[in-house]
Amino acid sequence: MSDRLGIGVIGLMMGCNMLHVNRHPRRFQSEIRGICDIRKDRLDQYGTEFSVPYATSDWRELIQRKDIDIVGIFSPDHLHMDMIRLALENGKHVICTKPLVVSLDEAKETIRLVRKHKRKFLVGQTRRFVTHHQEVKKFYDSGKIGTAMMAEASYVHGDMWKVFDRGAWRYEHPQDIIYGGACHPIDHLRWYFGDVDEVHAYGCPSPVDLRYPQDKETNFIINLKFKNNVLARVLIACGIHEQPGGSISDIMPMEGVSIFGTHGTIVNYHAAYREGGRHDAPRQEVHFDKDDVAEDFDGKEYSGHLMSVLKYVQEIEYCILNDKPVTVNEVEGAKCIATCAACWKSIENKQSAKVFNEF
Ligand SMILES: NC(=O)c1ccc[n+]([C@@H]2O[C@H](COP(=O)([O-])OP(=O)(O)OC[C@H]3O[C@@H](n4cnc5c(N)ncnc54)[C@H](O)[C@@H]3O)[C@@H](O)[C@H]2O)c1
Repeated sequence: MSDRLGIGVIGLMMGCNMLHVNRHPRRFQSEIRGICDIRKDRLDQYGTEFSVPYATSDWRELIQRKDIDIVGIFSPDHLHMDMIRLALENGKHVICTKPLVVSLDEAKETIRLVRKHKRKFLVGQTRRFVTHHQEVKKFYDSGKIGTAMMAEASYVHGDMWKVFDRGAWRYEHPQDIIYGGACHPIDHLRWYFGDVDEVHAYGCPSPVDLRYPQDKETNFIINLKFKNNVLARVLIACGIHEQPGGSISDIMPMEGVSIFGTHGTIVNYHAAYREGGRHDAPRQEVHFDKDDVAEDFDGKEYSGHLMSVLKYVQEIEYCILNDKPVTVNEVEGAKCIATCAACWKSIENKQSAKVFNEF
């Protein structure tokens, strides 16, 4: 066996992105040694395509293997907790896709387990690894738009039925759209402003796809008050019909984020500001690359989720091998989940709700 870190991946749809590690031995110090899925056709197809030596339909078996150091969890949302627990109890480092888990209690349990077993833990909040979001964040950190006062972020999925077509768990279980969807913009804003103090949320169901339970909300409007006093609103539109311009357009991008600062404003792919906020300074404009711009990765072009996943595999490798802290770690993940939990509390109690941040 090589001296690389061994990776085992559970769930072969979003999780397939991780398998590309095996195509780039010069860019990674790890390799995919095992895959798990309950669908045999996917095990056969991807095992062959990515030369993975071990395949199983039993996630417990995969996690317990001695040659696996890092477990990548990409199963349906509600299964994450049990897989996280077994992985940590077996001394594995963990990459878990968003949402980390689906309740505040599970978030607390995750933190307890990571602290007990002292492993590296990375939550795959993909937006933090997308180049244009990273560029916008860097621009914001440069101070050009001054101090943030307000913000807005969104998760707009005008073709959610296509995702329902892919996996019945999303409507049969069903996927909770606050944890599974709102976690994206909430984490995005937490990246900028830190802890959320209070939320107020409304939700409504949608008849756009009748497979999803008709009494369960798919669209939400959420107001957030951050501890640093920034106010933000979040739009979650997963039960809507179409998205003019598509997911990366200027009209209504899927991953929108706007920041209103004392010296200027960022709206999605664009920013405008005046140096030092001076009214007599010339107006400056900045434009950022869009999400679909392909990036060069080991001579090949990748974009979207694939690129984000490969970037976070590189991060956890580096953190394991150099004993460094992970950026989007279990605490970041747990605080995002705690904010989602407060959204549900607000909807149920019809009033604002405080966020638990004491992890
Ligand atoms: N932006 C992102 O980061 C992003 C995007 C898409 C999905 N996700 C997350 O990834 C996870 C998977 O979503 P998806 O879209 O790939 O779903 P999917 O339904 O398309 O694929 C899930 C896979 O997991 C397998 N699976 C189900 N139960 C299993 C079990 N008990 N053991 C092993 N395998 C099992 C299924 O057979 C399927 O192949 C979810 O948590 C989802 O929220 C994240």
